[in-house]
Amino acid sequence: MPPIEILKDVHWVGAIDWNIRDFHGYSIYRGTTYNAFLVMDEKVTLFDTVKQGFRSELLHHIRRVIDPATIDYLVVNHAEMDHSGLVPEVVELVKPEKIFCSERGRKALLAHFHREDWPYEVVKTGDTISLGKRTVRFIETRMLHWPDSMFSYIPEDHLLISSDAFGQHVATTERFDDEVDLSMLLRHAAKYYANIILPYSNLVQKLLSLVKEMNLEVDMIAPDHGVIWRRNRGKILECYDEWSQQRSKVKALVIYDTMWHSTETMAKAIADGLVKEGVSVRMFDLATNHRSDIITEVLDAGALVIGSPTLNNGMLPRMADFLHYMKGLRPANKIGAAFGSYGWSGEAVRLINAIMEEMKFTVIDPGIKVQYVPVHDDLKRCAELGCKVAKELKEGV
Ligand code: FEO
Repeated sequence: MPPIEILKDVHWVGAIDWNIRDFHGYSIYRGTTYNAFLVMDEKVTLFDTVKQGFRSELLHHIRRVIDPATIDYLVVNHAEMDHSGLVPEVVELVKPEKIFCSERGRKALLAHFHREDWPYEVVKTGDTISLGKRTVRFIETRMLHWPDSMFSYIPEDHLLISSDAFGQHVATTERFDDEVDLSMLLRHAAKYYANIILPYSNLVQKLLSLVKEMNLEVDMIAPDHGVIWRRNRGKILECYDEWSQQRSKVKALVIYDTMWHSTETMAKAIADGLVKEGVSVRMFDLATNHRSDIITEVLDAGALVIGSPTLNNGMLPRMADFLHYMKGLRPANKIGAAFGSYGWSGEAVRLINAIMEEMKFTVIDPGIKVQYVPVHDDLKRCAELGCKVAKELKEGV
């Protein structure tokens, strides 16, 4: 994979990670890329590096454009190791005149690499530096998705280097959105949003307003993961606006784990009730669906009906894992209800309700518990619960 000149004198010099499958518990079955950009100007500037283990790709790509020793500036938009892992080696090799980062970025780099002697140059929102023919304007994007994160905007190229924001975990040899299937790309962008950006949705709204206020002309959005948005840059901005508002659709998820198929049977009856009332339903058995794929569906679902049998006075471990993961991602504006079978104690439904309440879901029913194996009347109650959730959902959306 050669370096790619994405604009005149602006080169993609990153790395493609075809084999990674897990990112902090998020399943990235299409791999990912670590994007870095080299700008050839009077001050030759490298924007970000790549993850440890991809040294040869980064340096090989840079060397095909220029001798790395001639790089003047390094911009570290984000200190997480997938982008900063090669910073120590690059600094050693390049000996940059300046390393531009946010104040939180400087602290994060110090805490990672313990190098007080590097030539840090702290920048904040609105600060501008000249590279010669070009300028770079910095925009701090705190918590998108770390406190140190920032964007670099090059007005002369209408190029926004957006760090983690607008990324997708997709490994491809293509570098632009219009070279790959758009529906696949938007699906992975949504998955990335749901699993990484979702807890900071209010900050995304503020950032989108700030970008509008700053009146930035943007022809290209170059994130640090996946492809560069060119033809569909307006579309991804619209999607971020929509996703960050956390508006829900008339769509329900029935998420469950099951021991001897009783909770599964209940789940199917609940889904029948939802469908009868005209609600679109997705069913997820935790034994066969990854938590990060379910969270992608949670993004625009208005109702979650969650079921687990009781095991050792609690819920099944996969359900505990899922609820813990979902709680951290802070989805908002959801209706919830719980269900599950039990043998003798039956705590799971109460525990699921408690977690949904902590997450500020509107729990619309005490939930349904069935001892051992459901009979027809139990399944009728389950279908009625599905109808009840559907009606609340349709009223609320
Ligand atoms: Fe892709 Fe927050 O690192």
